[in-house]
Amino acid sequence: MAMPDRFRTIIEPFRIHSVEPLRFLTEGERRERIVAAGYNLFDLHADDVLIDLLTDSGTGAMSRDQWAAIQHGDESYAGSPSWFVFLEAVQELFPFPHVIPTHQGRAAEKILFNAIAGPGKVVPNNTHFDTTRANVEFTGAEAVDLVIPEGRDPAADHPFKGNMDLARLEALLAQRAADVPVVFVTVTNNSGGGQPVSLENLRGVRDLCDRFGVPLFLDACRFAENAWFMKLREPGCEDRDVPDIVREMASLADGMTMSAKKDPMANIGGWLAMRDDAWAERCRNLLILTEGFPTYGGLAGRDLEAIAQGLRECVDEHYLRYRIRSTAYLAEALDRAGVPIVRPAGGHAVYLDARALLPHVPPLAYPGQALAVALYETGGIRGCEIGTVMFGRRLDGTEEPAAMDLVRLAIPRRTYTQSHMDYVIEVVTDVASRAGDLPGYQIVEQPPQLRHFTARFAPLG
Ligand code: F0G
Repeated sequence: MAMPDRFRTIIEPFRIHSVEPLRFLTEGERRERIVAAGYNLFDLHADDVLIDLLTDSGTGAMSRDQWAAIQHGDESYAGSPSWFVFLEAVQELFPFPHVIPTHQGRAAEKILFNAIAGPGKVVPNNTHFDTTRANVEFTGAEAVDLVIPEGRDPAADHPFKGNMDLARLEALLAQRAADVPVVFVTVTNNSGGGQPVSLENLRGVRDLCDRFGVPLFLDACRFAENAWFMKLREPGCEDRDVPDIVREMASLADGMTMSAKKDPMANIGGWLAMRDDAWAERCRNLLILTEGFPTYGGLAGRDLEAIAQGLRECVDEHYLRYRIRSTAYLAEALDRAGVPIVRPAGGHAVYLDARALLPHVPPLAYPGQALAVALYETGGIRGCEIGTVMFGRRLDGTEEPAAMDLVRLAIPRRTYTQSHMDYVIEVVTDVASRAGDLPGYQIVEQPPQLRHFTARFAPLG
């Protein structure tokens, strides 16, 4: 049933049944907490955060029906009924013959790339998420990002900024197809701003994969949000059901990796799925080493049930309309207030352009970190720096500016209301009006890899 068009307000398509209290600190208390955390937002106690936009992963609110499904969880070691419920729900949308459950997305990546990548291989993707890149590189293979040029420009408006650059993919395959075990497409393109990929582009990637005899896999964490963007923006999709669009996406691929912590609205879980029997056998053998028996992977029976129910809910059109609209609501308000953001709004997050907002802070003084700290101090909002702190360190220990210095405000699913977002808009606008006074930072302590999780900082000047 369509929503009546008579009213403009897109309401949250749920009412609240169980609440979690928020703890209010003063600005002074937050300043003490962030100093004690070495100005690293990952080191805060989450109770000291008012609005937590660090990630949309595993942080969504489960529904009444998901909690009820948890009670159906059957914890039999092998062949649990919960496994069959999960399998059916996955194959309803992604009819791959082999489905291999894992405890989260990166476990699926680790198993797949162990089975098929290795030294001398190269894996193209529109943009690898950081764990995907790390798992490709861990096997000795090379990870190459081939998103269209618009996907790298925060200000460029394009309906499908996550699209693969087909010309560059073709050039790579023409040269090195024998070294490419798989082509990946990430929907939506998280590292590029949560931007969607079009069906037309996926069909183009499929054609190239067919021509060069290379399999195509989806990193499908945010498949439902991507399908909704297709319905909104792609000619020919406007009258299709979301599950039907999803099944076409699946039909174009040979397999997928998945984190159930995103669109399926579970707090934990993931899977790997594919058509190829020999690959599946290799993957299942690795699964048993690290995750568990193939009918539960790294999951409890109750998790399998929660994921199955979440999969049914996340393709609901009322949910998706609200979900994508509420992200756009935040983005549009910030845009109107003159705060530079990655445009257009992505599916799961709004990305603030810290480099544009803090031109007095050079990239090596970490403008994204400066902005993220200020948002916490001022309003208790926790976002995530995606910039030179995360990507600026070379293997030899020297530093260079990342391509962009962003702060991601990721929106957990069904967790915050419009008034929470109105508060976020006020805080970000307030911080932006004082951006010229914000100090840069230096790193005073850091580990050799993935430094953003544990580095400690000090303000400059
Ligand atoms: N692929 C994409 C596109 C992701 O965004 C993530 C996780 C993963 C794979 C890995 O899945 O966390 O279940 O192991 N993204 C989270 C984020 C962590 O905050 O964007 P996982």
